[in-house]
Amino acid sequence: MTRVRVEGIVKRFGDTLAIDGVSLDVQPGELFTLVGPSGCGKTTLLRIMAGLLEQDTGRVLFNEDRMDDVPSYLRNIGVVFQNYAIFPHLTVGENIAYGLKARRLPPDRIATKVAEAARLVQLERLVDRMPAQLSGGQQQRVVLARALVIEPRLLLMDEPLSNLDAKLRVQIRSLIRALQRELRITTIYVTHDQEEALAISDTIAVMDRGQLLQVGKPWELYLRPAGSFVADFIGTMNVLRGKIEGPGRGAGERTVVTDFGERWQVRATGRPGEPITIGIRPESLQLEAGANAQESWNSLKGTVTEMVYLGAVVRYQVQVAEDLLVTAEIHNPDFSAICGAGDRLTLWFAASRTIPLPGETGRD
Ligand SMILES: Nc1ncnc2c1ncn2[C@@H]1O[C@H](COP(=O)(O)OP(=O)(O)OP(=O)(O)O)[C@@H](O)[C@H]1O
Ligand SMILES: [Mg+2]
Repeated sequence: MTRVRVEGIVKRFGDTLAIDGVSLDVQPGELFTLVGPSGCGKTTLLRIMAGLLEQDTGRVLFNEDRMDDVPSYLRNIGVVFQNYAIFPHLTVGENIAYGLKARRLPPDRIATKVAEAARLVQLERLVDRMPAQLSGGQQQRVVLARALVIEPRLLLMDEPLSNLDAKLRVQIRSLIRALQRELRITTIYVTHDQEEALAISDTIAVMDRGQLLQVGKPWELYLRPAGSFVADFIGTMNVLRGKIEGPGRGAGERTVVTDFGERWQVRATGRPGEPITIGIRPESLQLEAGANAQESWNSLKGTVTEMVYLGAVVRYQVQVAEDLLVTAEIHNPDFSAICGAGDRLTLWFAASRTIPLPGETGRD
């Protein structure tokens, strides 16, 4: 299994600084996902690892081997890129065999390996079909088999599911995850879909403007985001501001007065008078006051501007102050919990559910 290290990579295209000093350490056999908005440098970083693009500075190592002078075709990488379409004039089997033929394997070895790869992606009965006779999901599985059949030391996938509809995306991502675990191939996966990233990854790295903002387990990024960009990119976050008034009731808590005049207990560090940014997830807000006396409960009052009823969940937009709209998700809602636009309501949340957003004391 391959450990991938990227150290101090910088890449410019003319005046554009596409990669601004990125280092990362991908553990053997893990599925490592790069997420971030369009143009943040995900594809560029992947192409540098694949050897399809040369960095200005920095280095790439597979285990202890420096890759900088190793051409792409000798790096033994399987790639599933958006623009690596299947060859329309070759059958499914011939498509899968492509990389093996390029490596000049004997025909009987090729036949065995192609059959095995086709079985892995559940295409064994379609190996003689032409690509035009396949569905979108089947075509994507051909591309996957073609990447896996060469037994790569590293699999690089750039938005492999973006051409598929929602249901197929979920099916194929489960297949990718299952195969990746079974074959224990170190995989670097690019998506800008945060739900996909949470569902599929061992580790997620959030990128913005050529830099890595945070690297961690899915739940670390969700529950302990390093700042409001990560907090809002991975899920939805209500970002609220206030000032520390004094110590809090519980350990690791502070009493805070919000900009719209509520006095709260929140998880925070800092001294009285300091400004503070507080994150609260929509699902941490409740319509009933908390019954657990062990915890400090806080309230938030506002007017419903929008209600979306989804059965298991009701999603409210609540106007709390003139310039502050809060999203609340009430799970398993009671009949009495259904409010409509214009209704006033009070939302409650436990101090333990607040998320300090560090490094953002500056306002505006
Ligand atoms: N060949 C190129 N020439 C000039 N600029 C480029 C080139 N390739 C990428 N860029 C620029 O580098 C930056 C990073 O691009 P990149 O394709 O890596 O983004 P990305 O994160 O993959 O975005 P997306 O989610 O839209 O695919 C962008 O500003 C892009 O315009
Ligand atoms: Mg891209």
